[in-house]
Order: sequence, then structure tokens, then C-alpha cells
Amino acid sequence: MPVKTLTIDGQLITSPKDQTLLDAARAHGVKIPTLCHLDGVSDVGACRLCLVEIAGSNKLVPSCLTQVAEGMVVTTNSARLLEYRRMIVELLFAVGFETTAPATALAVRRARQLGLRNFSMLVSHVLVPPAMEMILASPGNRVQGFLAAGHVCTVMGYEMYDELAARFRVPIVVTGFEPIDLLEGLLMLVEQLEAKTFRVENQYVRSVQREGNRHAQAAIAEVYEVCDRAWRGLGVLSRSGLRLRPDYQDMDADRRFPASTTASVEPRECRSAVVLLGLLRPDACEAFGTRCTPEHPLGAPMVSSEGACAAYYRYSRPAKPRGERSETLGS
Ligand code: SF4
Ligand code: FES
Repeated sequence: MPVKTLTIDGQLITSPKDQTLLDAARAHGVKIPTLCHLDGVSDVGACRLCLVEIAGSNKLVPSCLTQVAEGMVVTTNSARLLEYRRMIVELLFAVGFETTAPATALAVRRARQLGLRNFSMLVSHVLVPPAMEMILASPGNRVQGFLAAGHVCTVMGYEMYDELAARFRVPIVVTGFEPIDLLEGLLMLVEQLEAKTFRVENQYVRSVQREGNRHAQAAIAEVYEVCDRAWRGLGVLSRSGLRLRPDYQDMDADRRFPASTTASVEPRECRSAVVLLGLLRPDACEAFGTRCTPEHPLGAPMVSSEGACAAYYRYSRPAKPRGERSETLGS
């Protein structure tokens, strides 16, 4: 097997050529701290805790994403790196749906076990069912069914949707993310609409169980409690977010650094509220594709690749001249 020879903290090592610096270091007993590097999950380089120095470069690089190279001289433990890592854990951002909450909850729990004093978290987790309920209860609602996000249900299960489906008479299909998953989820939804049934079904059986992941739910419940949360475009939704429980408030960045929270101002031309309610096609927004793009998003639906506006931007056919466009869905 082709190998590279390099130096890590003064130790000359050889490593398979496609190994990352993190794996090479660990294979030789050198410890590098990590947060977002998890077994079985692709690395995204989000936390920057695993940064290392490489001789000849001023830039710090994430060792979980950087491959070994011949002759590299790597330092994992300098005063500069220690200072940088201290700063990183001083203020972490916990964001995302129920999917990401177990990982941030475990980080908080671990920080408590270790007695860390320089660890705090700005928590902005949101919960899916209250947003679905808000959409279904909104005047003029035209949403007839939901593909429930499979990653959320992997954690939370889908028992909680039974009541929503029955109360609002909408089918809900828990669906995965491959094209074939989406097509099958849509088919199951349409079949229910044609049969006029309003059940919760699970298309994503290879990942989701009805009761979800009880261990992950226990971690969330231990660290977080439910609170009201402001959603961009939708306003404040009751009991739609998570915040740290009183036992963990010494780690709450909102309390430790009050200036860290700023009110977000929605650009007036962003029509994300009506997009999210299913009342406006993203490409009918005046800013779509011009003043608002994934590189320069004006609103939340253009930010992540699964957002409605970003998905339209990436996958919709070239826009017709504006005069020919449908202003609203189905019109
Ligand atoms: S295209 Fe941009 S500005 Fe328009 S609704 Fe979507 S996110 Fe808002
Ligand atoms: S472990 Fe998070 S960036 Fe490498």
C-alpha cells in the first residue's frame, strides 16, 4: 500500500496515502480534540476544534479534512492552537431541528461531566410538529399532506404525528432523502389522498422506527426543555424550540454573553412566510435568482440546500418570462 512519510509533533511516521491527519495522528497515539468528527458520519469541518499547524503555512487546517502529504511537518499542540481551541468551546452554536439536538445535548452533558468552565452554548434548536401545526391551522391553508422529514423522525419517531393527521385530516408520510425515497413518499401520499385516508405512514423504514431513538430522546430531555421560539418568516411559535434546562444555565451563552443575541431583521422583500405556507412558488418571488441566491440568501428557505427556494434555484427548469409565470401554486 502506498504510504507517506511525515512528522507529527516531532515524531516521524508513515501513513497510508489517503489517510487524514487526524487518523494518522490517532494511529500513532497523538490526541487531537474533536467535536464534529463522528464515526460513521461524513466530516464537514464545522467545529474547527481539530485545527493543526503545518510548517510553511500560516493557515490552521482542520485535521479531520486534511490528507497526509509527503514531508509534511505537523504541530498539534502549540500555544496558538490551545488558545484557539479555548475560544472555540467558549461559545458554541446549537442549531437545527430535533436531528441535531442529541449531539449538542451530549456535548453539554460531557462538558458538565468534565467540569468545563469555559464552555457555553447559544441554543437555537427548533421543533418540527409546531411548525406543521401552524401551517395547517393558518387561514387559507392549501397544504394537503406532508412528507415528514426522515432525519427528524429517526430521532423522534412518528407517534407525535398521529394526532395532527387525524385533527387536520392530512396524510403524513415519513420519507427519506434519496430520489427513490421521495418518489415513493409522494406516491404513498397521493394514494392516501385518492383513498381519502389520513394516516401516518413510514416510507423510510430502513432508518425510522415508530418510537424513534429513545437514547437520543433521553439525552435531549435531560439537557433541554421546550420553549417558545421565533421562526424567520413565521414569527414566534408557541413551544416550538428548545432551551437549556435550569440545571445547565451556567452554560447558556444568552446569559453569559447577553450581547451574543441580536434580533434578526427580515428583508422586506423576502416572502418566505408565504413560500413556507405553500401559497407562493419560490420563483414567483421578485428577488428569486437575482437579489436572492444560495450564495447571497435573503431568507431562510434559500439558505440550506433542502430549503424550498434553494431547491427551486438548483432544480427548477429555466424560468419562463415573468408574465407567463404562475403567481401562486396551482393557479
Ligand atoms: S427567493 Fe429569497 S427573498 Fe424570495 S422568498 Fe425565497 S428566500 Fe425570501
Ligand atoms: S472535528 Fe470538527 S472540524 Fe474537525
